[in-house]
Amino acid sequence: ATELTGRHFLKELDFTAEEFRHLIALAAELKAAKRAGTEERRLTGKNIALIFEKTSTRTRCAFEVAAADQGASTTYLDPSGSQIGHKESVKDTARVLGRMYDGIEYRGSGQEIVEELAAHAGVPVYNGLTDEWHPTQMLADVLTMTEHSDKPPAEIGFAYLGDARYNMGNSYLITGALLGMDVRIVAPRELWPDEAVVERAHGLAKESGARVTLTEDIAEGVAGADFVATDVWVSMGEPKEVWAERIALLGPYAVTMDVLRATGNDDVKFLHCLPAFHDLGTAVGREIHERHGLTSLEVTDEVFESAHSVVFDEAENRMHTIKAVLVATLGRP
Ligand code: CP
Ligand code: NVA
Repeated sequence: ATELTGRHFLKELDFTAEEFRHLIALAAELKAAKRAGTEERRLTGKNIALIFEKTSTRTRCAFEVAAADQGASTTYLDPSGSQIGHKESVKDTARVLGRMYDGIEYRGSGQEIVEELAAHAGVPVYNGLTDEWHPTQMLADVLTMTEHSDKPPAEIGFAYLGDARYNMGNSYLITGALLGMDVRIVAPRELWPDEAVVERAHGLAKESGARVTLTEDIAEGVAGADFVATDVWVSMGEPKEVWAERIALLGPYAVTMDVLRATGNDDVKFLHCLPAFHDLGTAVGREIHERHGLTSLEVTDEVFESAHSVVFDEAENRMHTIKAVLVATLGRP
């Protein structure tokens, strides 16, 4: 059996392909058990700290519900509510929380912060999103892909369109390469992942048999894909000023019905980690609408609301997959 007790989850590369697949299978089991009303509590008496230096809906709620379902308690530390990084070092925070909690989730900017927490906490640390990686999101995406495809992950092809030198682009590239998938990064070259990440993906692909494609060409990038994914064009923590440049670069890469048709696959599914700016229904969205005259950004309403869209299954799966991580790393057998 795959043994993950006590392990951190800081980036996808902390796990082997086999371990990653084990977490997906465990998440599917836990999801089925919850639906059947037969879920067993394997985390009773455990306490989990949730540090959020950036805001969240899905990740926070997923950790809280997953923990509650399994009998564990959580403490939410909001972006301004703790001393971390302001009045107290990351190292000291890690040693304090490690004395009280059985596991710590961290969301913030720097990957080095979550790595430092892990180095000093003495308990498992989970990356709930950094600028570089969004590993728990990848578990949800792969679970969603397996649910909406007859193929095993190694035969699935997916194309990610959008800003690819941030967390989602990096994570998709590495996850696809790790699991032997047909992964396509479709973006203007300026927004491709760092060379080191690309090299790592090619290295992984040699072992896994993955097909790794980076292209600026949308038609080439999406042809034959089972899934098309995107993300916001400007991520949390980036200055507002980059919107104009990002809109200019990424405008052609918006996921429209034409993009879905270009896959040649009538059954193609659409993924988005959310939150989306698709309906410009937010304050930021309205400001962009007024300034740039756009009615949609990374995805049109038509795609988002269509039968192709599986984004709410994907959102639900954040909870089942995060539960799998907690159970695998902290749970009683
Ligand atoms: N997908 C995701 O991480 O969503 P939140 O920012 O709401 O947690
Ligand atoms: N790239 C996005 C993902 C949000 C879940 C961000 O970092 O804001």
